[in-house]
Amino acid sequence: MPDQFNVPSVILIGGGVRHEAAAQLKRLGIHRVLLVTDTEMMRLGPAREISSELEEAGLDVTIFDGVQADPTDKNVLAGLNLYQERDCQGLVAVGGGSPIDAAKAISALARNPAPLSHYAGYHKLPFPGVPLIAIPTTAGTGSEVTKVTIITDTDRDVKMMILSVNLLPQVALVDYELTLSMPPDLTAAVGVDTLTHGIEAYVSRKAHATTNPLALSCIEHVARHLKTAYAEPGNHEARAGMMVAACQGGMAFANSSVCLVHGMSRPIGALFHVPHGLSNAVLLPSITRFSWQSATGRYATVARILGACSHAADDMTAAESLVAFLEQLNSDLNLPRLRDCRGVDEVRFRENLIKMASDALASGSPQNNPRVPTVDQIIALYEEAW
Ligand SMILES: NC(=O)c1ccc[n+]([C@@H]2O[C@H](COP(=O)([O-])OP(=O)(O)OC[C@H]3O[C@@H](n4cnc5c(N)ncnc54)[C@H](O)[C@@H]3O)[C@@H](O)[C@H]2O)c1
Ligand SMILES: [Fe+2]
Repeated sequence: MPDQFNVPSVILIGGGVRHEAAAQLKRLGIHRVLLVTDTEMMRLGPAREISSELEEAGLDVTIFDGVQADPTDKNVLAGLNLYQERDCQGLVAVGGGSPIDAAKAISALARNPAPLSHYAGYHKLPFPGVPLIAIPTTAGTGSEVTKVTIITDTDRDVKMMILSVNLLPQVALVDYELTLSMPPDLTAAVGVDTLTHGIEAYVSRKAHATTNPLALSCIEHVARHLKTAYAEPGNHEARAGMMVAACQGGMAFANSSVCLVHGMSRPIGALFHVPHGLSNAVLLPSITRFSWQSATGRYATVARILGACSHAADDMTAAESLVAFLEQLNSDLNLPRLRDCRGVDEVRFRENLIKMASDALASGSPQNNPRVPTVDQIIALYEEAW
């Protein structure tokens, strides 16, 4: 298999680039557009602001704000109905990973027959979706530059991972100013999601020469900016740095793959609605402890970039130091343990351990981990994170 690298054909990065949305839609020949967002983005303003700008530019805008956090197949169908009813020609997504992922799925179903579950897994979507401009407001998932969408199948309580080049947005407008409104707990959770993308992209069995520098740069930006963005929400330099990290992390992982942390994190999100970044954060230290001896040099490099150890430390010492560093990072960012996350119930957690472990393995992500676990080892890792 050749190394593959896919990203949107236009990525604009910097303060104020959200104002380019109308010009990009016109370039793509789109006049009737569905703006996909959530109620919080409407309340806070960015979705309304962008919609007004598009209307002032003479475009016909319909707003769909019915996306919930961890979007579902039902959200996608509701958006698709509106898209078809209004005879739209393309999509703009404004929000975190949830609205962007929902918009990708709407885009896909506008050109490919339902149900979405037919396309779960790798490279199963036959035709390109309709054009999508993604404008992220978290830093973050990097979904604006990835060929991945994560949608909950409500019949099975599973977060489906769908990866296809046919899901790529045409344009990503990566404007850190939209992240200034994120409260510290959201900044922390989505920031650790970004860090997890960088680490997993770098240690993945599918990492390659084009994804490696992006993954390492992502980690370096997180090392420099996450704690400041958390402590000082209005710090432009830190917000800009984390936005670059999120975008690079997305480009890296989508082309090399996430691994065991994401594989195990999705079932927690599907069952307990723990925010995605948080469900990664609670797993990251234990899974690093489980994995590092299978890719010691790579984990050592990550540890040195993060400042977990001295640059002179040998690989074994450096890689091992990463576990304690990640535990300390969670604590510095006031991220709770799994048992303390809102919505997580111990009885339901134990009843569902086998389902969660088999759903994790079925997603395909754990198979890219440096050390590939069995179902029993995944259950033990869930217990350890508890
Ligand atoms: N497609 C991909 O490549 C990819 C990668 C990683 C994660 N994901 C998925 O993305 C989803 C998570 O996305 P997310 O972490 O960005 O969060 P989100 O989109 O679910 O948003 C979480 C909450 O934060 C609010 N919010 C968003 N931006 C804000 C801002 N600037 N200020 C204040 N509040 C804001 C939202 O309104 C929402 O209430 C999950 O479903 C996850 O599985 C997708
Ligand atoms: Fe993620």
